[in-house]
Amino acid sequence: MENIDWGNLPFGYFKTDYNVRCYWKNGEWGKLEISTSEYVNLHIAATCLHYGQEAFEGMKVFRGKDGKIRVFRWEENAKRMQTSADGIMMAKVPEELFFEALTTAVKKNEKYIPPYGTGASLYVRPLLIGSGPQVGVKPAEEYMFMIFVGPVGPYFKEGFKPVNIQLVRDYDRAAPQGTGHIKVGGNYAASLRPADRAKKDGFASVLFLDAKENKYIDEAGPANFFGIKDNTYITPKSQTILPSITNKSLVQIAKDMGMKIERRPVPVEELETFEEAGACGTAAIISPIGKIVDQQTGKVYEFAKDKAGPVSTKLYETLRGIQEGVLPDKHNWNLIIE
Ligand code: PLP
Ligand code: COI
Repeated sequence: MENIDWGNLPFGYFKTDYNVRCYWKNGEWGKLEISTSEYVNLHIAATCLHYGQEAFEGMKVFRGKDGKIRVFRWEENAKRMQTSADGIMMAKVPEELFFEALTTAVKKNEKYIPPYGTGASLYVRPLLIGSGPQVGVKPAEEYMFMIFVGPVGPYFKEGFKPVNIQLVRDYDRAAPQGTGHIKVGGNYAASLRPADRAKKDGFASVLFLDAKENKYIDEAGPANFFGIKDNTYITPKSQTILPSITNKSLVQIAKDMGMKIERRPVPVEELETFEEAGACGTAAIISPIGKIVDQQTGKVYEFAKDKAGPVSTKLYETLRGIQEGVLPDKHNWNLIIE
């Protein structure tokens, strides 16, 4: 294998050998194709380019301590991509096609799966785009589904160390009855400007509030939010956040640890009362939150100094342990690829 500094990979694009593609035309999916090109040839009037008909997913593949290749909860990503497709009127990718594309893309690029113990993993990025032409605002009549993969390190350069987050009140990522609950490109476009400001101000990410009342916590950039107090795992219930598969898994792990769970609106003032707080997602895994600073008022909520709290640490170690085949996978979350 060529020299890859596995332990120092950023979360970014990494060229591998193959990607897979499939086309939907005349009402049906064609055969999966394997490509060595990093480019796609698109119609100038493709709806993904004009009207945001685009959805994507993110999954991780791990090389276990036992050498086996594990994919974490892929069926959940396949389902969520169908919900996203439905939400913006795109052709849905059947679960069997998603599975074939995923396993093919992983196996063809097996040499890019980071070794166990490096902290890195293989990130899998499925995407679905409207590829057929329209000029009026209408769904395309042709679609393209692709998966590319690449080895990645932690999303936040801090790794499993507390990150500081900027709470924003002057930007929303998604409208109350809009597309915040599905994984479509437009939501991310809306997050670029506040995320850039947060970075310039020295923060790892932003914390969005609900767009209707600006009162409740929504999510932390590309990750869900959770708070811990009184042996309880608390996470926002909101129509405008992405239902995170990592969060759903942490809810189960917290239950298994004997904790109580609350999924409900979380008012900003409640931040004062949390013993620990974190951001969770496929890319972020768990990023413990050190401080949250209100961009407008300057108010600081502090949770951790240079080390994550005990509950976040236990949640993190359990999740990673399951993903890497070190702890029992009692809920059957992993797919082992032979
Ligand atoms: N919220 C947003 C906006 C995201 O982009 C992601 C990443 O996929 C998440 C939350 C976390 O979701 P998951 O745990 O399924 O990766
Ligand atoms: C993920 O966690 O997979 C994400 O999609 C986050 C981000 C890179 C958009």
